[in-house]
Amino acid sequence: MTAVQNAGPLIRLAALSKHYGTHLVLDQIDLEVVKGEVLAIIGPSGSGKSTLLRCINYLEVPDGGLITVGPTTIDATRAASRSELSGLRRRVGMVFQSFNLFPHMTVLRNVSLAQERVLGRTRRDADERSMQLLKRVGLADKAGQYPVRCSGGQQQRIAIARSLALDPEVMLFDEPTSALDPELGLEVLAVMRELAESGMTMIVVTHEMGFAENVSDTVMIMADGKIVEKGPSAQVMRNPQQERTKRFLRAVHDR
Ligand SMILES: Nc1ncnc2c1ncn2[C@@H]1O[C@H](COP(=O)(O)OP(=O)(O)OP(=O)(O)O)[C@@H](O)[C@H]1O
Ligand SMILES: [Mg+2]
Repeated sequence: MTAVQNAGPLIRLAALSKHYGTHLVLDQIDLEVVKGEVLAIIGPSGSGKSTLLRCINYLEVPDGGLITVGPTTIDATRAASRSELSGLRRRVGMVFQSFNLFPHMTVLRNVSLAQERVLGRTRRDADERSMQLLKRVGLADKAGQYPVRCSGGQQQRIAIARSLALDPEVMLFDEPTSALDPELGLEVLAVMRELAESGMTMIVVTHEMGFAENVSDTVMIMADGKIVEKGPSAQVMRNPQQERTKRFLRAVHDR
């Protein structure tokens, strides 16, 4: 468990909503995440978990509500400016189920490229930072390899290093281990646990109930575009209050 600091929220969503056509996918979501907090989001398929993450960094444009990350607040009812969006995206790193590394570039180049393009780092500075991060995720020896020579778990750790290299204030993870064999998933979970313990603010959509219970500070259950229940991880996982949460956790345990 990480210590949750007593600061104001780093992330604040107020009445965030999103439709696809007539389908209401996010229904007036209010959420606060403080600096250093690790929030796990769990819930049934189609409940809006990925959409919520994608709205936080504007990969998906919400219909309404306010999104605050650090000093940047975007009002989703009007068009966001380019500088608002770049301010938001600078602060928010994201890791997906699919790692999307460039196959024609070495592992090192994959981690360095965005640092040069987005942050304007020199190649030398970028490579130095990349090597630090590859070491941190246990893959310094893969720097000169191409991604195809790396396992799925290794590729996901490279994707995490690539995201961390842009010095985000918060990291969003959307089922980072669900495409991996269990054993390879463990390598990735170990990296995420280390990141959590180092004080990174994280929002993690996951099917890993062990991670939700043991690594995250807070667990939130979503169903039908709403937050059903949210609280300290041990409490929500071991003693859920809502019938919908109990049903979901039973279904997961019986799987
Ligand atoms: N681009 C899109 N166009 C239309 N409908 C979409 C789109 N993306 C998602 N949806 C719908 O929005 C709802 C929420 O999807 P979302 O991907 O956020 O769910 P999820 O909770 O992440 O599910 P899963 O656990 O399966 O990943 C689903 O009903 C989905 O079919
Ligand atoms: Mg999803």
